[in-house]
Amino acid sequence: MEILKVNQLTKNYRNTQVLKGINLTIHQGEVFGFVGHNGAGKSTFIHTLTGISVKSSGSFDILGVPDSQIDSVKKSMGVMPDISNLYENMRGIEFLRYMGGLVGDHRSKEDYESLMKDVGLEGAERKKIKAYSFGMKKKISIAQALLGDTEIIILDEPTSGLDPESAIKIRQLVTGLQEQGKTILLTSHNLDEIDKISDRVGILSDGIIKKVGTPRQLKEGTETGLTIFVRTKPMLHADFVQELAEKLEIDVSFLGTKKDYSMLHIASDDDIPILSKKLIDSGTRLYEMKVEQTSLEDVFMNT
Ligand SMILES: Nc1ncnc2c1ncn2[C@@H]1O[C@H](COP(=O)(O)OP(=O)(O)O)[C@@H](O)[C@H]1O
Ligand SMILES: [Mg+2]
Repeated sequence: MEILKVNQLTKNYRNTQVLKGINLTIHQGEVFGFVGHNGAGKSTFIHTLTGISVKSSGSFDILGVPDSQIDSVKKSMGVMPDISNLYENMRGIEFLRYMGGLVGDHRSKEDYESLMKDVGLEGAERKKIKAYSFGMKKKISIAQALLGDTEIIILDEPTSGLDPESAIKIRQLVTGLQEQGKTILLTSHNLDEIDKISDRVGILSDGIIKKVGTPRQLKEGTETGLTIFVRTKPMLHADFVQELAEKLEIDVSFLGTKKDYSMLHIASDDDIPILSKKLIDSGTRLYEMKVEQTSLEDVFMNT
């Protein structure tokens, strides 16, 4: 089921076109990670979806409802925007109860406390929000996005500026939400994080989505491929690898040696079993094979 469908969405600020035609479909139960340089337009995209800003052209549907009637699905959307509208004079738990009330979420006091615990705000329930640190404000803003009977949860940089432990907690929370069947759209600067938690990733650049796919597809699609370190006796050399490549019809090349290892480059990890079998069949004694994965960062740098 399509939860979000975006068609040629554009957004201009005065003379600048920030979004130049975004096309995107997100399905139910997906965690979709949106990455892009600072100023790429990630928040602008989220603002147009959530009604904080008005689109310039194009269209989108959320839960099958066209953007002209988006107010009618707002109850099914949980949003943590990059700009906060926290009620600073309220205590943490009061704020959540208030916001919950607005979306018809009348859970028990214990359940609000447990929500605060889930985001890592245990013990801060009765503190005023104005006394919260940056990270705590971020966490309560995430908690607020989880209120109500939501189907899609949109989080703009939920973990940026959080300490590593808190960031892990938030990631676990996202995974838990997905297990409940929720759909999550999030942005992040942290490419490792996006790689770990997203089913699919979109790279926003120059106002359009330049690349979209599973982290694995994106990594396989880059020139960087995979580097493998093999320890064999005898050691592999360039001619042998060249010969192997021709025989196997796989894209493997010799990069050089490092200590006891020969470094090879392959295009896809499906080549690993083929290559290792051939090495053994050729009488080479294989002691070790280490794969250095392309990171999403490599993909990002090449976009
Ligand atoms: N309200 C606004 N008025 C004018 N320009 C804006 C406004 N909001 C964002 N921009 C501009 O749009 C571009 C994208 O910003 P933003 O969506 O915040 O990027 P990101 O979230 O990817 O870092 C930036 O160049 C930013 O200066
Ligand atoms: Mg932003």
